[in-house]
Amino acid sequence: MPAAGRSRRSCLAVPGSSVKMLDKARGLGADQVFLDLEDAVAPLAKPAARKNIVAALNDGDWGGKTRAVRVNDLTTPWTYTDVIEVVEGAGAHLDCVMLPKVQNAAQVQWLDLTLTQLEKSLGLDVGRIGIEAQIENAAGLVNVDEIAAASPRMETIIFGPADFMASINMRSLQVGALIPDYPGDPYHYILMRILMAARMRDLQAIDGPFLQIRDVDAFREAAKRSAALGFDGKWVLHPGQIDAANEVYAPSQADYDHAELILDAYAHATSEAGGKRGAVMLGDEMIDEASRKMALVISAKGRAAGM
Ligand code: GLV
Ligand code: MG
Repeated sequence: MPAAGRSRRSCLAVPGSSVKMLDKARGLGADQVFLDLEDAVAPLAKPAARKNIVAALNDGDWGGKTRAVRVNDLTTPWTYTDVIEVVEGAGAHLDCVMLPKVQNAAQVQWLDLTLTQLEKSLGLDVGRIGIEAQIENAAGLVNVDEIAAASPRMETIIFGPADFMASINMRSLQVGALIPDYPGDPYHYILMRILMAARMRDLQAIDGPFLQIRDVDAFREAAKRSAALGFDGKWVLHPGQIDAANEVYAPSQADYDHAELILDAYAHATSEAGGKRGAVMLGDEMIDEASRKMALVISAKGRAAGM
């Protein structure tokens, strides 16, 4: 399925070391799950987590969710074993591999080639497994354009705020939250940079985690900020954050209805019967071709969310 066809308003992190959480995740309402082999899994637990993930992907119905596995980053000794064990074991039931802490295009190209080898040897369609790249340090952000362009498998660029904040020495331990000493949104530049790189290649842009999992109102505020810029979704670390993400990253009913109205009115205005006009009034609002494009974005997001 092409990236644009997958909904990712809520992307649920599930530690591969917990059979219980892997089981539970199946029935939750997240658009995407990513089964984690990286930072939620201790080094000694990684071999067992690979096996748990293969079993979880193979048995059980994931109900149309996008299924991703986050492997370890390429500075560790674990990445190649993660990719080979998971794809050999469950490649037919896996939609994407998520690569964390990506620093340049070569790392994505390594994953692309490895997946191609695996798909060929397993008799899977070549190119069916997509790639999601996490931007988590200065090198990743500076090279984000080449990362977005590195492979036709690329589906999403994801902001990883916790690692990013650590890597640039940001003076806060409140991951994803505003910083009282800074009179603005400290993530604005990073989010916009990621968004531009993603949109240039028609990829989805996904916001990262908010760690205060019991404060759903604060989660919602953080999500609203990236949703307003145009982000497609956000990570959720707890089932309690799922509904808020699904709601925030879908258009409001009023915006969706208004977008449909613009599309209808503009289609009529530009038709023979409507006088072949390119700019018309809709109530007090002047609409033209650019309004149609903006309305199409809202309408497509609404339809993907079942409106
Ligand atoms: C996610 O991986 C993060 O570092 O925020
Ligand atoms: Mg991280």
